[in-house]
Amino acid sequence: MIVEKIIPIAREAGKLMVRSGFDVMEKDTAANLVTSSDLAVQHFLVDHLSGIMPDAGFLCEEDDLGDLNHEYVWIVDPIDGTANYARGIDHCAVSIALAKGGEVIAGVVYSPWRNELFHAEKGSGAFLNGSLIKASERPFKDGLFCTAMSTYRKEFAKTCSDIIFDIYMRSNDVRRFGSAAIELCMVALGKIELFFEMRLQPWDYAAASLILSEAGGVSCGFDGGPLSLSNPSLTLAANNQDNLSELFSTVHRYLPELPY
Ligand code: IPD
Ligand code: CA
Ligand code: CA
Repeated sequence: MIVEKIIPIAREAGKLMVRSGFDVMEKDTAANLVTSSDLAVQHFLVDHLSGIMPDAGFLCEEDDLGDLNHEYVWIVDPIDGTANYARGIDHCAVSIALAKGGEVIAGVVYSPWRNELFHAEKGSGAFLNGSLIKASERPFKDGLFCTAMSTYRKEFAKTCSDIIFDIYMRSNDVRRFGSAAIELCMVALGKIELFFEMRLQPWDYAAASLILSEAGGVSCGFDGGPLSLSNPSLTLAANNQDNLSELFSTVHRYLPELPY
């Protein structure tokens, strides 16, 4: 299985997520950071993933590295949760997906500081540190809801807060861990039931969305279809289809059309 070749590379990359001695730089906004570790992890992954599949393209967060014109494409977020990483907060992860013909077929999300490695290969189930995982069966009213306020595009924050308030009032409670990849894996793990973000990038969710679907959970974009692997996407995810439909109709009450 291809995922077995990705796992040791993800573990090695995680060693580059050092606890100190890295540089922190701002990108387009003060909230959007990149560290020297993000760059080191990405360079390591591009080198080593090319080694196991020389003809594959790459879509990576840093360095504007994107080339989708290949049958196989690696979709990589070197560190998801960079703001956490820069402050020494444990919720940060390497995220690696392999897509074939526009569909994710393998995914690994590795959070080295929490010693959690999630993996999935299409049709083979989802695993945390080698043990099979399943999404929960909790109904919407008992659901724990992970979300964010559109950190990098604050012009959407008021709409996010209206949507979040509405869902909060009808569910159990809200959490914000600061890594979409880890949060989606927590839905796969059965600890979280509901997820909404206004605008995520393919590298934030590509690996975790496969891990989620292999654990019996579901996700979709603004139009109810699969999450895009080439463009940013409003991102909804849930432990089951009923709860995803409820999230979908709530979002559409506040957003007749996508604002970007
Ligand atoms: C971010 C994290 C965060 C989410 C942001 C993402 P980054 O990724 O996943 O939880 O709220 O929308 O961009 O910038 O840390 O790779
Ligand atoms: Ca990310
Ligand atoms: Ca990142």
